Amino acid sequence: MSKSINLTLKIWRQKGPDDKGRIETYELKDVSTDLSFLEMLDVLNERLMLEGKEPVAFDHDCREGICGMCGSVVNGIPHGPEKGTTLCQLHMRHFKDGETLVIEPFRARAFKVIKDLVVDRSAMDEIIKAGGYISVNTGGAPEANTIPISPDVAERAMDAAACIGCGACVAACPNASAMLFVGAKISHLALLPQGKPEAARRALSMQRKMDELGFGNCGNERECEAVCPKEISITNIARLNREYIKASFGYQEDL
Ligand code: SF4
Ligand code: FES
Repeated sequence: MSKSINLTLKIWRQKGPDDKGRIETYELKDVSTDLSFLEMLDVLNERLMLEGKEPVAFDHDCREGICGMCGSVVNGIPHGPEKGTTLCQLHMRHFKDGETLVIEPFRARAFKVIKDLVVDRSAMDEIIKAGGYISVNTGGAPEANTIPISPDVAERAMDAAACIGCGACVAACPNASAMLFVGAKISHLALLPQGKPEAARRALSMQRKMDELGFGNCGNERECEAVCPKEISITNIARLNREYIKASFGYQEDL
């Protein structure tokens, strides 16, 4: 049953990349527990605009948990306290009346704050670009489906392909490592026959780009897996390591 709660919001406000930033406190009354987290921020922003104040900038697009655009750190947890849930799919019924929520942007050396809760995650696009293309022409969907793939392999590839590139894994990791994200991207292609011709080149160049852009290495903290809204398994990091070692010993082409 729907009810209303009162919240104290402590939100990171930063005018631009060069501003120092600070936490500002807002009291928000009568928040319907049916609202999503982003809708709750919409309500706050409507109030701020009516008061002639600058609304809180935050990223979003689909609001359906599929685009990877949303994401802030809520009480220290990227995407908030609900497991396997993006910020846009998190509902206010998971919070208590009178609760204080500290809302901050994802923090990592490779994610520069653009404004308030919006960070520049283009470094992740750079890693994807470094992965390059798939040369296998699979034709249309009916032709692609004629390539026999065992259900187990198809399942593992699809589980890895569920990564939406949100960056929560990076924000949660003490080393700001992007290895869960890169492991997912490497795995979903390396497992399938269509992705095998370029697998070695892809593993080397994505790993190299990740290092170059300032992401750290995996220290087996498993924080990434704990916060991932798509529950991507760290077995994908193990596969990334295997693919990288295989490629380092066996791949000669000048990259
Ligand atoms: S691995 Fe999970 S947390 Fe990391 S980018 Fe992909 S969906 Fe987001
Ligand atoms: S807004 Fe698209 S995943 Fe949240």
